Amino acid sequence: MEFSIKPGSPDKQRSGCIVVGVFEGGKLSAAAQALDKAAKHYLSDIIARGDMSGKAATTLLLHNVPNTQSERVLLLGLGKGTEFDAKRFLEAIRAALRAVQATGARDAVLYLNEIPVAQRDNSWCMTQAVLAAHETTYRFDRLKSKPEKNIHGLNKIQFGLIDGKQAASLKTVLAQAEAIAQGMKLAKDLGNLPGNICTPSYLAAQAQTLAKTHKSIKTTVLEEKDMHKLGMGSLLSVTRGSHEPAKLITLEYRGGNKKQKPIVLVGKGITFDSGGISLKPGADMDEMKYDMCGAASVLGTLQAVAEMGLPVNVVGIIPTCENMPSGTATKPGDVVTSMSGQTIEILNTDAEGRLILCDALTFAGKFEPDTVVDIATLTGACVIALGHVASGLFSNQDGLARELLAAGEQVHDRAWQLPLWDDYQSLLDSNFADMQNIGGRAGGTITAACFLSRFTKDYRWAHLDIAGTAWKSGKEKGATGRPVPLLAQYLINRAQSGK
Ligand code: BES
Ligand code: MN
Ligand code: ZN
Repeated sequence: MEFSIKPGSPDKQRSGCIVVGVFEGGKLSAAAQALDKAAKHYLSDIIARGDMSGKAATTLLLHNVPNTQSERVLLLGLGKGTEFDAKRFLEAIRAALRAVQATGARDAVLYLNEIPVAQRDNSWCMTQAVLAAHETTYRFDRLKSKPEKNIHGLNKIQFGLIDGKQAASLKTVLAQAEAIAQGMKLAKDLGNLPGNICTPSYLAAQAQTLAKTHKSIKTTVLEEKDMHKLGMGSLLSVTRGSHEPAKLITLEYRGGNKKQKPIVLVGKGITFDSGGISLKPGADMDEMKYDMCGAASVLGTLQAVAEMGLPVNVVGIIPTCENMPSGTATKPGDVVTSMSGQTIEILNTDAEGRLILCDALTFAGKFEPDTVVDIATLTGACVIALGHVASGLFSNQDGLARELLAAGEQVHDRAWQLPLWDDYQSLLDSNFADMQNIGGRAGGTITAACFLSRFTKDYRWAHLDIAGTAWKSGKEKGATGRPVPLLAQYLINRAQSGK
């Protein structure tokens, strides 16, 4: 899909379809008014006949509207102007895109800019439209023997501007939105690939491919023997039952000042989580191929950052392996020593994410980070707490938490903060080691974060639990590409503030 900005009046645009808004009660948006005027009340007559009520997210397709240069005009219901918020805008834009895709139109011009969305500006609307266009056209069919023929021919979307003054500043926004969308696509593709294809070695190869396509990225891959030397007994305990070799991937993007300390992103890369000896139940176990979505979001974000050429230093770290049962697998009760020197009693081998992350987080310290953010499909309890709307957020510094929450809000990839209070720490007390790897059912998301906090004392750190947001189950099963938008927006903001 190609996106661009197109100044000019809607009646003068030559395209497959023009999309303009109509409010409930029949009031026309500015672009619709311009069309109506050129067409000698053709639109207002149709509305007066009751064919388009203007109810939010409804559409009406018109052909051969008089005195216009486009093959079609799509009227898009916007509801009551006063109630038009982010959620309604997103519903409306998706409805419009689906309606256009159902036609034979190859290109479309959307007039969104005069649609007033509560507390959002033009650039927000455009970013969301770009992300929605990618979302509604995304297909993962590379594993079908006969991929479906491209069902829609739409390959070009333009954003019409009656007043072209903003065109220049919106161009940067458009390029950023496109980079975010491509980063999400990479994250989705990697997430959707099954565990027999997307192995730790496959993720390492992907990271190396990223370094090939982007000169600004440098990738290094550590093998199990290197991890042994570093003393990563916790990470290595997870891979013991698997035949696939574990990898520790590092991607370095140096876009900022040489002296500037990097922002480090650490992504959980369990390419399949069977639970290990603490085996998971069979139902829906296939979804544990998504247990590397944190890793995928790190790769997607680094690709987006390189694409945008942001003046920041970012390091991505991906600990990746399988969690499998076998005769050599780690057993409940085993005690291991982490790279930090702290010992861990593994009471449940299914709480493996924290075991690979803790060593990766100690390793992150080597980069003298300004900030470390880890991203992980860490706990089923997070899905119970926040559902599929918000990612769980924890931080040892409130300022960082606020920046991440704001970035998520800004790009509509939201997170919600949960407490990291000391009161929860004692749930991890062990009789036999410095700590145990589970804290019981109560507050399971929080005790998982508390576990990680014991390895992140030397730097500013935040943890995103994306167990509920990284993929969808059911009929529309598939990876979402989240939280690439949140992370990319955070880095855009950091680049802008020059910190
Ligand atoms: N990858 C899972 C978390 C998960 C489960 C995400 C279901 C999304 C849906 C993680 O490794 C895990 O198994 N966590 C356990 C922790 C428990 C044993 C303390 C869980 O959530 O049940
Ligand atoms: Mn698990
Ligand atoms: Zn897991």
